[in-house]
Amino acid sequence: MEINKIAVLGAGIMGSGIAQVASMSGFQVVVRDVKDDFLESGRSKVEGSLQKMVKKEKITDDESRQIQDNIKWTTDIGGLSGAELLIEAVPEVEELKKEMYRATEKLLAEDAIIASNTSSISISLLGSAVSNPDRFIGMHWFNPAVIMKLVEIVRGVATSDETVNTIVNLCEKMGKETIVCRDCQGFITTRILTAFRLECYRAYEEGIASKEDIDKACRLAFGHPMGQFELADFSGLDIEVNALKGMVEVYGDRFRPPQQLLNIVRAGRLGRKSKHGWYDYE
Ligand SMILES: NC(=O)c1ccc[n+]([C@@H]2O[C@H](COP(=O)([O-])OP(=O)(O)OC[C@H]3O[C@@H](n4cnc5c(N)ncnc54)[C@H](O)[C@@H]3O)[C@@H](O)[C@H]2O)c1
Repeated sequence: MEINKIAVLGAGIMGSGIAQVASMSGFQVVVRDVKDDFLESGRSKVEGSLQKMVKKEKITDDESRQIQDNIKWTTDIGGLSGAELLIEAVPEVEELKKEMYRATEKLLAEDAIIASNTSSISISLLGSAVSNPDRFIGMHWFNPAVIMKLVEIVRGVATSDETVNTIVNLCEKMGKETIVCRDCQGFITTRILTAFRLECYRAYEEGIASKEDIDKACRLAFGHPMGQFELADFSGLDIEVNALKGMVEVYGDRFRPPQQLLNIVRAGRLGRKSKHGWYDYE
């Protein structure tokens, strides 16, 4: 099936980045969020990222304008009509995601594929909410979507080979590398990263070192671009807690979110997006 129009659900950190990549690759893109403020924030993130690319002479002013014009931002769910691919990037809450598939699937083109950008929830479970689970797939992007090379593709129990092939080819068109993973909670990347990050949190809670020094160890000893506290703030702590809760259900206590992380999130400190998290950003 040929994909021309891509609908993105959620204009947050991931949705806005995915929309930008799709538009830069020549697709017609529509992004839906629940409030104009959220759309405006997504739109200005895309604009800022493109401005940087113009400055570095990676694209021209005209190309930047064209990429922005290719993306429609809307609160109207009807705007998704006729899309051949829906990429869902709403918060990491199973019921919300399922509700969105039920509300949107009838609007999409016949034979459309629905992909979830979930970081951890089972694709077979999410796929149980749609009429055609053979055309439901995990498309796990990394933050920032424009820069990160990889998309982790997750096949649910019912996902067809044709759907996997279509999405692998689409990612190639978007200049991304892919890995394909069988469905399991946290897939390859979230499972491994989370285990590593929780050990950083535990070392901090045990008073072994400051979070600054643990982050420095990650950067300088392992060559990671960011420490785990920095990366958690960058990705969003609310998203992380929800992912951990799902992992606990499957793998048990080894993924239990630490008290301190839960308390930070309860206090509304969600990382960079709310200006406070493990660190302050004002
Ligand atoms: N942040 C990361 O680093 C990262 C990386 C990979 C995958 N993910 C996954 O991507 C998804 C989104 O994460 P995020 O970090 O972009 O979250 P975010 O909080 O930045 O953005 C989510 C957006 O979805 C919107 N939304 C809520 N309900 C909606 C609805 N009914 N219709 C349309 N939009 C709606 C919210 O208003 C918000 O703008 C999650 O499943 C997360 O696990 C996140």
